[in-house]
Amino acid sequence: MKRRDVLRNLLAFIPLGTAFAGITTMGIRFITPRRRDLTRRIFAMHLEELPVNTSRKLTDLRGKDLVLVRTGEHEVKAMSTVCTHLGCTVHWEKDRQEFYCPCHAGRFDKDGNVLAGPPPAPLDTYHTEIQEDNIFIYFKDKES
Ligand code: FES
Repeated sequence: MKRRDVLRNLLAFIPLGTAFAGITTMGIRFITPRRRDLTRRIFAMHLEELPVNTSRKLTDLRGKDLVLVRTGEHEVKAMSTVCTHLGCTVHWEKDRQEFYCPCHAGRFDKDGNVLAGPPPAPLDTYHTEIQEDNIFIYFKDKES
């Protein structure tokens, strides 16, 4: 077999190899189900249990601490208590209406945005809802 024939045969297999790779990829996607984001709505407490401008520590579905703050008559915020700087625990300061991290004086507003200090990012937040005087928190979970 000449070198030219070998090269011609190799070139003939390129479309076949491409088709095989495409079919294999589609087969793997078909066999392995995709992960979906699931959001769970969990009852947290009754509105009367959380007076305006007070906070309550809770735990999310994965065991992470969060703080629930009633910032208005019909406004409730839920934030992770983990500071985005080095992971210390933040707490709600009701006099200043801010979250405060005592480790390096990081400050966050009621929406979790950085106001001062070294934290590089806002606090993680959870969507909340008040319905018929009940407070609900939405947690994202992954389906495996
Ligand atoms: S760990 Fe919170 S400001 Fe540094």
